[in-house]
Amino acid sequence: MVDLIMTLPPEAYLWFKTLHIIGVVVWFAGLFYLVRLFIYHIESRSLESELKKAFCEQYSLMERRLANIITTPGMILTVSMAICLLISQPEWLKQTWMQVKLGFVFLLLVYHFLCYRLMAQLRRGECEWSGGQLRALNELPTILLVIIVMLVVFKTQFPTEAATWFVVLLIIFMAASIQFYAKWRKKKQLELTGEL
Ligand code: HEM
Repeated sequence: MVDLIMTLPPEAYLWFKTLHIIGVVVWFAGLFYLVRLFIYHIESRSLESELKKAFCEQYSLMERRLANIITTPGMILTVSMAICLLISQPEWLKQTWMQVKLGFVFLLLVYHFLCYRLMAQLRRGECEWSGGQLRALNELPTILLVIIVMLVVFKTQFPTEAATWFVVLLIIFMAASIQFYAKWRKKKQLELTGEL
C-alpha cells in the first residue's frame, strides 16, 4: 500500500487533500449535529411518560443513523486521506505545527468516541449530563476546528500578534453569546409554561 502511494503521480497528493477536506466537512457536520440531538434528547426527559418514550426512541434512532452514516465515515475519510498525505510527504511529520496538529486531532478523536459513549448512555436512559453541560461540550469541536485549521494554514508562521488574539476573543464571545441566548430562551419558555 505504502509503495503504491509512493508511485502515484504528483497530482494524487491534491486528490488526497481534496478528499481530506471533504472528510473534515462531513465529520464536523456530524459532530455538531450529534450533540445538538443529545441536547434535545436529554431535554425530552421532562415530557410526560408516553411522549417521553416516543421522543427518546426517535432521538436514539436519529443519533445512531447520524453517527454511523455521516460522522464516523467522515472521520474515516479524513484520517485515511491524512495517512495518504503523510505517506506522500513524510517530511511534514518532522515539523512542529504538524506534531501540534496531531495532538489536537487526538483530542478530537477522544471527543468523537465520547459522543458514542454518551449516545449509548442516552439510549439506556443512564446519561447524567444536563442540557447546559451538553451545550458547553458542543463548543469544544468549534475550538478544535479553529485551532487545527489555523495550524494547517499558517504552519510555521502561526500568528501570535494582537489581531490573532482579537479573532480568538471574537470567537469566544460568539460562543458565549450562543450559550446565553440558549439560557435566556429556556428561561422564557419556562416563564410561558408557568414552571418558573
Ligand atoms: C489524522 C490526522 C490528520 C493528519 C495526519 C492531517 C494531515 C494533513 C496534511 C499532511 C495536510 C496537507 C498539508 C499541505 O499540503 O499544506 C493536511 C491538510 C489539511 N488538513 Fe489535515 N490532517 C489531519 C486531520 C485534520 C483535521 C481533523 C482537520 C480539521 C479540523 C484538518 C484540516 C485540514 C485542512 C483544512 C487542510 C488543507 C490546508 C491547506 O491546503 O492549506 N486535518 N492535513
